[in-house]
Amino acid sequence: MLTSYLEFAIKTARQAGKLLVFLQPSFRQAKTKSTTLDLVTKADYLSEKLIIRNIKHKFPGHQIISEEQNSLDNSKFKIHNSYFTWVIDPLDGTTNYSHQFPFYCVSIALVKNNKILLGVVYNPNLDELFYACAGKGACFNHKRLKVSNTKSLNKSLLATGFPYIIRESPGDNFRNFQNFCLNAQAIRRAGAAALDLAYLAAGRFDGFWERELKPWDTAAGVIILTEAGGKATDFKNNKYNLFLHREILASNKYIHQQMINLLNDK
Ligand code: IPD
Ligand code: CA
Ligand code: CA
Repeated sequence: MLTSYLEFAIKTARQAGKLLVFLQPSFRQAKTKSTTLDLVTKADYLSEKLIIRNIKHKFPGHQIISEEQNSLDNSKFKIHNSYFTWVIDPLDGTTNYSHQFPFYCVSIALVKNNKILLGVVYNPNLDELFYACAGKGACFNHKRLKVSNTKSLNKSLLATGFPYIIRESPGDNFRNFQNFCLNAQAIRRAGAAALDLAYLAAGRFDGFWERELKPWDTAAGVIILTEAGGKATDFKNNKYNLFLHREILASNKYIHQQMINLLNDK
C-alpha cells in the first residue's frame, strides 16, 4: 500500500518541480508574507495548487497541511491524528527561487498517527530525487542512501538556516553559528531546509540545525534522513516530533552528541 502512495508522491513532486523550473523566468518577483524577509511567489501557489489537486483527485478522504494554506497560527496544526495527512512544501527555498539561485525543491510527506510514513524531496534543477518509506530505507535517484561516516565535529560539514523573524527576534543562532564555525570543518547556509536534510541523508552534510521550522519544512527530509541511518532530535536530544518541535538537530548520528554539547554550551 505504501508503495502506491510513494509512487504517487514521486510523480507529483516531479510534476511540481517541472512546473517550478518552467515558471522561474516569469515569477521571480516575490511578495512578502509574515515578515519583510518571508517571501512568496506565484510559483509557490501554482505548485501547491497542482499538488493539492492531485491529492484530492486520488485520495479525497486524506487531510492536507500545506504551507501557503496555513497561517503561522499553531491551532491550524490540530489535525485528526488517525487520518492520512499529506504535509507539503510546494517550494522550499522561495528566497533562492526568487533570486534565481538554483537550490530549491518540492517536499511531500505522508503522516498518520504522528508517524511519518513516507517522504519525497525533489530538486528539479539537478533532477535529484530523494525518497524514503518507513522501515524500508531511503533512496537517491533509486540508489540506496546512507549517511556519512564522519565521527568528529572537527571534520564535519554542517548546514543551518536563519528564521525569517531574525530582524524582530534574533534568537541565538548567531552564537551557535559562531561556535560551529570554530569547531566544524565548515558550514553552508544554502536556503532550503528540506534539501539540507536530504543532502545530510546522502552524506554530503554531516549535521544540520535550525530554529523556527514548520512541519512542511522537515517532514519529508526527516524520514529520508532517519531511513538513511541518521538521527533527528530537538536541541535537548528528545526525539524530533513534527508537530511539537520548531527546532531541529539532525545528524549522521555519530556527531549528534558533539552538536548537542555545543548547542547547549551556555
Ligand atoms: C525556508 C527554507 C529556509 C529556512 C527557512 C524556511 P521556504 O522555507 O527552508 O532554508 O531557513 O526557515 O522557512 O519559505 O523557502 O519554503
Ligand atoms: Ca519551507
Ligand atoms: Ca515554501
